[in-house]
Formats: sequence, structure tokens, C-alpha cells
Amino acid sequence: MQSYQEIGNKIIWLEEVDSTNNYAKKLIENGEEEGTMVLARKQTRGRGREDRNWISPEGGLYLSLILKPPFPVKELSMMTLLTAVVVLEAIEKLTGFRCQVKWPNDLLLEGRKVCGVLTESKVVGEAIEYVVVGVGVNVNNNMEELSTNLQYPATSLQEKLGYEVEISMVLREIILSFNKNYKLTLREGWSVILKKWKENLYPVGEIHRQNYLSMGNQEGELA
Ligand code: BTN
Repeated sequence: MQSYQEIGNKIIWLEEVDSTNNYAKKLIENGEEEGTMVLARKQTRGRGREDRNWISPEGGLYLSLILKPPFPVKELSMMTLLTAVVVLEAIEKLTGFRCQVKWPNDLLLEGRKVCGVLTESKVVGEAIEYVVVGVGVNVNNNMEELSTNLQYPATSLQEKLGYEVEISMVLREIILSFNKNYKLTLREGWSVILKKWKENLYPVGEIHRQNYLSMGNQEGELA
């Protein structure tokens, strides 16, 4: 198995930052190693996919992981799927609720968005130099603030459970789940992650089916 620096051993805690992904990328430029996690109580310019904002007041979980995966470039998109599975399992372990994955990596609880993943990377030639995996989870967020965040209706763990959730507990489960699933992937390839991801897909008809099939083709030998 490839060696891997477990995440969670080095966590940089920030009161406030523009974006944990931006901060992580600056760290990498200064030589930061794999495994470091950047965590912020709030973000002033949190970023989502497709240039959207990720409104990030206190109450949510905002983190970025620095990874230097040994995979070929064509498997880069699998890191996003892996992260969706990681957070899905973490939330289920903590709350008993099983999320669904809406293509490619939104996590929905009963059709409402509870988590988003933003994966950014640098590729040099045929090699992945780094991947920054950014995760935002709606934990105890104010629901009015969340409604401006997204193109889908949002929910939070607090709204679903009816009580406030310790953000550190969510963080702990994500770290455990990440290390477990990432090590499994390094040992056995992507098939287990792909299976878990497909088993928990949110059914959104033809578009989803097409994307799903193209993922099968892209990762043909793995699926
Ligand atoms: C999306 O659903 O569009 C992805 C949202 C990703 C948000 C997280 S919060 C931590 C990290 N830092 C950012 O600026 N974005 C990601």
C-alpha cells in the first residue's frame, strides 16, 4: 500500500478566513505536506462550485484537506466522490441519518442540501501535484442565512435533529471516515467507493443517469 500521511494529525484552526481552500493552497505553495487540515469558524468569501458563493457564518463546519494522492490524473474526479462518501458515512454514524448524493457531490437529507464539496487541484504533466478538498457542512447554521446560499433548499443537522450538534463531533467523524476510506482506496482501488457512491445516489432522472454512465466510462476499469 502507498504510504499516506493521515489527516487530523495537523489541524490549523482559524477564527476567520476568506476561504479555507485559498488558505490551504497558500500553505502548499510554502511547502505544506499531505494531511494538513485547515479549519475555520467562519469564512468571509467561502467558495462553492461553478463560481458560486458559499455563505459561511458561524455555526457551520468549513474545512479543507491537503492531499497529494498517488493516483493517475484521470482518477482525479474520484477524490470528490470519495469525499461525498466520507461525509455521508460520518453524518450517518453521528446522527443515524443517511444522506443521498446528488450529482456529483452534494449531500442531501430528504432532498435538502446539507453539505457541499469543492475539490481543487494542480496537475503537472501526468501527475497530480496536490488536491485541496474543501468541505462545508450545515451543522447549526441559521436557516435564514442558508436560504441565500444555494440553488436547492437547504437544511442543517440541527434542523433535522431538533437540537444543536457539537461541530467537533462532526469533525471527528469526518476525520475517522476519511482515513478509513482513503486507506481502503489506496489498498484496494476505487471499486468500494464507487459502489457506496452509486448505492446512495439521489434519483434525479435522465441527467443523473447520463452523468452516472459517463462516470462509469471514465473510470471504466474501476467501475
Ligand atoms: C458547493 O456545494 O458548491 C461546494 C461548497 C464547498 C464549500 C466549502 S467550505 C470549506 C471550503 N472553503 C471554501 O471556500 N469552499 C469549501
